[in-house]
Amino acid sequence: MMSGTSLDGVDVVLADLRATTPLLLGTCYCPYNDDLREALLLLHQPGYDELHRAAMLSNQLSRLYAKATADLLEKTGVLAAQIVAIGCHGQTIRHCPEPEKRYTIQLVNAALLAELTGITVVADLRSRDIAAGGQGAPLVPAFHEAVFKSSSRHRVIVNIGGIANITNLDPYHAITGFDCGPGNSLMDAWCLQHTGRNYDQNGQWAATGRVIPDLLDALLSAPFFAQIPPKSTGRDLFNLRWLEDKLQFSEESPEDVQATLLQLTVMSIAQAIDMHCLGAEEVYVCGGGGHNSLLINRLAEIMSGKKVALTDQLGITIDWVEAFAFAWLAQQAILRKPGNLTAVTGAKGSRILGAIYPA
Ligand SMILES: Nc1ncnc2c1ncn2[C@@H]1O[C@H](COP(=O)(O)OP(=O)(O)O)[C@@H](O)[C@H]1O
Ligand SMILES: [Mg+2]
Repeated sequence: MMSGTSLDGVDVVLADLRATTPLLLGTCYCPYNDDLREALLLLHQPGYDELHRAAMLSNQLSRLYAKATADLLEKTGVLAAQIVAIGCHGQTIRHCPEPEKRYTIQLVNAALLAELTGITVVADLRSRDIAAGGQGAPLVPAFHEAVFKSSSRHRVIVNIGGIANITNLDPYHAITGFDCGPGNSLMDAWCLQHTGRNYDQNGQWAATGRVIPDLLDALLSAPFFAQIPPKSTGRDLFNLRWLEDKLQFSEESPEDVQATLLQLTVMSIAQAIDMHCLGAEEVYVCGGGGHNSLLINRLAEIMSGKKVALTDQLGITIDWVEAFAFAWLAQQAILRKPGNLTAVTGAKGSRILGAIYPA
C-alpha cells in the first residue's frame, strides 16, 4: 500500500508475485479527509507536542490502512490468511537523507496494522538505505526494471506523484533513477490556496493562465535541478514557502502562477531526461499526474522525437504502479533479498529493506 507525498489517500493493491510476471488481482483507493490531510501537513514542520500528534496520526492511519485492506479482501474474495504480507510505505512527514541528518519518517503504527489485519506487515522501507549512506529514494526503480524493462527499447518511467521521480531503463547499462523535482505538490498547494480545490483537474485552471518566464527561470534555478544524482527530495524543499520566496512582487495572477508551476514540472522532467537518460526512446508516465492531460500534452510536445505514453500501455494502469512496487518490495524483504539499487540511491551496498511485523 502506498500513501504518497500528495497526501491524497492510500492506494492498495492485491498482487500475486509468484509467477515471473507479477499479477495485479485487485485494487482499492481510500482518500484522506481534509482534517487528516491538514493534520499531516502540519507535521511537516516543527510544532507543539509533535511526538504525541505523530503517534496519534500513526494510529489513525493504521486504522484507515486496515479498513482499506479489509475492503480490498472483501472485494476480491480473498482471506487475510492467504496474504503473505502487506508492504506498507506509511506517510512521509520528513525526509532528510543529508549526511548531517540521515533520517526519514513515514508515519504508520505497523504493529497496530498487523494486529488489526492479522497479516504480516513490512514497513519502514526507506531507513536502511539511508543508514547505508543512500537517499532512501526512489525505491520503485527495481520494480520498474522487473516489470517495464525492454531488451531492445530504451525506456524511461516517470512517476508523477507529489514529487516526480525517474527510472532510466537503458537496455545496455545499469538501471539509474532519481527524484527530479515537484510533480503535483506545488500545483496542488497553489490550487488549494486559491480555488479551495485539492488539485487542478486535468490542468483546466492552469490552461487559463500564461507561463511567467521570469518566474519559471527563478524556479528552475533552484540548485536541486542541477544536482547530479543520486538525489531525492520532498515537501521539505518544494513547498509554498519556497514558491512564495520567488514571487517577487506578489503581483502575479494566480492562474499565471499555476500555468508556470505546471510548466516547471514539465521542464524539470524534460531536462532531467535530456541530462541523465541519453538515448531514451520511450517515456512512460505513471502516478496521479498522468491524469493531468495538459501536463501530459505539454510533456509530449517538449519531448518531440520520443514516444510519450502512460504505463497503461505496458500493462499496469498509472494509479497502481507505486503500490504494486511496495508489494514487490515487501516480497523482497520476506525473501531476504535486497530492494535498493545502489546506482539509484547511492547507498554503499545492496540492502534488505524494511522492518517485519509478523502476523
Ligand atoms: N484528473 C486529474 N487532473 C490533474 N491532476 C490529477 C488528476 N487526478 C489526480 N491528479 C493528481 O495526482 C495526485 C495524486 O497522485 P499520486 O500518484 O497518488 O501521488 P502520491 O504518490 O504523491 O500520493 C493528486 O494530488 C493530483 O495532484
Ligand atoms: Mg497518492
